[in-house]
Amino acid sequence: MDHPRPYVVLSVATSVDGHIDDTGPDRLVLSNEADFDRVDQVRAESDAILIGATTLRRDNPRLLVNSARRRDERAARGLPPYPLKVTVTRSGDLDRDLRFWHHGGDKLVYCPDPAVPKLRERLGDLADVAGLGPDLDFGVMLDDLGRRGIGRLMVEGGGTIHTQFLTAGLADEIHLAIAPFFLGDPDAPRFVNAGRFPYGPGNRMTLAEARTIGDIAFLRYLPEGRAVSLSPAPPSRSEDRRWLSLAIDLAEQCPPSDTAFSVGCVIVDADGSEISRGFSRERPHFHAEESALSKVAPDDERLPGATLYSSLEPCTRRSSRPRPCAELILDSPIRRVVVAWREPPVFVADAHGVQALEAAGITVVEIPELADAASRMNAHILGL
Ligand SMILES: NC(=O)c1ccc[n+]([C@@H]2O[C@H](COP(=O)([O-])OP(=O)(O)OC[C@H]3O[C@@H](n4cnc5c(N)ncnc54)[C@H](OP(=O)(O)O)[C@@H]3O)[C@@H](O)[C@H]2O)c1
Ligand SMILES: [Zn+2]
Repeated sequence: MDHPRPYVVLSVATSVDGHIDDTGPDRLVLSNEADFDRVDQVRAESDAILIGATTLRRDNPRLLVNSARRRDERAARGLPPYPLKVTVTRSGDLDRDLRFWHHGGDKLVYCPDPAVPKLRERLGDLADVAGLGPDLDFGVMLDDLGRRGIGRLMVEGGGTIHTQFLTAGLADEIHLAIAPFFLGDPDAPRFVNAGRFPYGPGNRMTLAEARTIGDIAFLRYLPEGRAVSLSPAPPSRSEDRRWLSLAIDLAEQCPPSDTAFSVGCVIVDADGSEISRGFSRERPHFHAEESALSKVAPDDERLPGATLYSSLEPCTRRSSRPRPCAELILDSPIRRVVVAWREPPVFVADAHGVQALEAAGITVVEIPELADAASRMNAHILGL
């Protein structure tokens, strides 16, 4: 029977000058909190995570899905709460005290045949040890992972490992997170070592996504130009503009007020169909997002793929009701928000809905060219 090779996602964080670590004894932090959360999500979407033996020895990571919610979601899909953890070694020098073996789910070590007895003796029942011949070929390893039912493999480095996947043309996606600093140390390890990469100047990769995650630039490349995505592609800019314009039109229906903004909101599913809509004061004291959210069951299965469009940035502080809209959104399964207008400091001095949502890993898209339209019906409040 034929088992397809897993879809391979290489994940790496680098400095602006391309280093993945420094040469000091302490662990170098490249990502920020929201980016670590993004990585946690990619781990949760994977069937297996692979790292090289040097990274295991040097960083001693546990390599877990840290979010209990994500582990629960995996369990609900009939998956083990943690992906399979995989490492590769030639030397077999892997200590049984490493954290890798003592946290999370199943572990698997690939090595050339000669290292098998030593590793089995060292690790006992801590891990499954698989020899794949006199040498370890990554293509053969992917075949074996496919036979084990691994559909999606996340590779978390280090550079030696990434280099082999890329030079062999075995990577389907690269997730590159760039931290806003330089290291400037020529001895610091890099994302990849020297090699013959199929993706030179004559064979440009596809840039599938570029996203801002706080101070991190997140880039997603498709070396072979094709993606197998778990969820449908996010709406295009023109679809976003269309739905956001509807949210702005809805704000015209708000009962007039001098003490609160007029805002409209629409929630749209991944297929581009409306789930619900709302506007400010549709019910006494209601905000637009609150109103739209109140019309959907919290466990509606369309929500995880949905986008919430709001003419104004969701609020983070309220006097009239217990919970601000940013919090209501974070409590919902919605993971994408599109806004036209940032809240001006009229009623609260420190509105920061966009920031709060992004910090929690929500994708926030701003369409500033619609900000004027969104603020127009609030001209009397703004003193315009
Ligand atoms: N910023 C990031 O995103 C990130 C992520 C991960 C790691 N890192 C950093 O990367 C550095 C380590 O990178 P690295 O390139 O030196 O090491 P690595 O890629 O983590 O591991 C290399 C080791 O993996 C084993 N190996 C590699 N290819 C093999 C093959 N074909 N067959 C069998 N075993 C194979 C060998 O283990 P043996 O030596 O046991 O034979 C080899 O020494 C660390 O500084 C770490 O902090 C950074
Ligand atoms: Zn609100």
